[in-house]
Amino acid sequence: VKPESLSLCPLGTAAAPEQELLCIFGTGDLGRSLGQRLLQTGYRVVYGSRRPHSCGPLPERAQVMSHAAAAQSANLVFICIHRENYDFLETLAPELKGKVLVDVSNNVEKNLYPEANAEYLQRLIPGAHVVKAFNTLSAWALQNGPSDANRQVYLCGNNAEAKQAVSVVATKLGFTVLDRGSVSAAKELEDFPLQLFPEWRLPLRLAVGLTAFFFFYLLIRDIISVYIKEKKDISFRIMVSLANKVFPIVSLIMLSLCYLPGVIAAFLQLYRGTKYKRFPDWLDRWMLCRKQLGLLALGFAFLHVLYTLIIPIRYYVRFRLSVRENRTPEFDTTMAWRTDSYYSVGILGFGLYLLLGITSLPSVSNALSWREFSFIQSKLGHVTLFFCTFHTYLYGWDKFLRASSYKWYTPPGYMLCLVLPSVVLVLKLLLLLPCVDRSLTRIRQGWERTNPD
Ligand code: HEM
Repeated sequence: VKPESLSLCPLGTAAAPEQELLCIFGTGDLGRSLGQRLLQTGYRVVYGSRRPHSCGPLPERAQVMSHAAAAQSANLVFICIHRENYDFLETLAPELKGKVLVDVSNNVEKNLYPEANAEYLQRLIPGAHVVKAFNTLSAWALQNGPSDANRQVYLCGNNAEAKQAVSVVATKLGFTVLDRGSVSAAKELEDFPLQLFPEWRLPLRLAVGLTAFFFFYLLIRDIISVYIKEKKDISFRIMVSLANKVFPIVSLIMLSLCYLPGVIAAFLQLYRGTKYKRFPDWLDRWMLCRKQLGLLALGFAFLHVLYTLIIPIRYYVRFRLSVRENRTPEFDTTMAWRTDSYYSVGILGFGLYLLLGITSLPSVSNALSWREFSFIQSKLGHVTLFFCTFHTYLYGWDKFLRASSYKWYTPPGYMLCLVLPSVVLVLKLLLLLPCVDRSLTRIRQGWERTNPD
């Protein structure tokens, strides 16, 4: 179901006290925090409890009654109790008929039950209108009100009026409401709090995998091979030289992996002649983690820049310079051009890289129009990839012609990492050809190629 944001009354006007009575079942942490916040916002609150006279400390000004009496006194009932204790609610079906029940529950594990808690509640009390909401907020967030990280309240349910009633309360509490559709979305909402950085998992695994691969590849190729062939121990290079190869290599590969799915999607649309067919799941998932891929790639590029900055103060470099001091090598203008160019192109690439990273942050991207955002992320993104790739080509220069570059018949790491960005850039260049670009633009505007049959 496509999430849709409800347009609700502005906060300033919403905060006026209305003294509406709301009911809360459950006097645990969540029930208490919610009650306190509702009271602060101007609602009256009544708790439903098994033992109304001995149910522990509750917010001042809140009333406590038996479940049946409390349910009868309000139209909206927050169910702040664990799912395992829902059965008793069945006995209250007559009192809860026609009421809006807000299911705020969560589970400790995924797939613990065949159906979502909210669906179970709806089955127990078919006469009530169940709305799943507030479950992604902690008791802490409820008590202290919305903060940047905890501003959104997801909700779902079968009855539009019931959802509207809950979203009015959520908005008065200062939250932004995101409607996820019918109660069948409840399972997804209940899984939210159990997920740990879900969209970072794939990019992180990829970063760790690539780092490990290139670390061992370069360790064997550049350090162990020298030890075996020349009996020379240059293991100290692991700390800076090797790290300063692995990090930029991983960064460049991950940056190209950010742009590869977009290019694949464009070719797929051209091949199918329509934009209305779904992309395969793997491509969808890949596209959804581009931001995380890009931010991790930026982190690796940042490390490369820091490592590069310390090169002149390294003992090994200063030692080599002092040994050479007595010789006056001839000035090589080509070499000067080459090194200055690759530094300069690297710096430009890094500058644009930072711009991409900054504009992907929600607070910045929210201030941009869609056109501005896509101009930076797509057009400038490809320019960034071009600069970083060009920087690496310039760094390599003519080394690919020398046999000594291929130790043990293996290519150096930077050559391997150039494959993917080069492919992405060539494919992107093909897409920019006027005839291809025209077809793609038409497809993206809704035109469809009709099948001959
Ligand atoms: C290599 C400088 C930004 C990718 C190098 C080297 C230097 C350097 C000095 C040679 C390192 C060595 O001798 O081992 C810079 C500077 C940058 C910059 C000053 C910006 C301030 C970038 C960026 C990328 C990048 C943004 C993109 C990911 C690479 C790659 C290599 C490299 C792939 C080859 C690594 C190897 O296998 O030796 N850069 N760089 N650089 N740089 Fe950059």
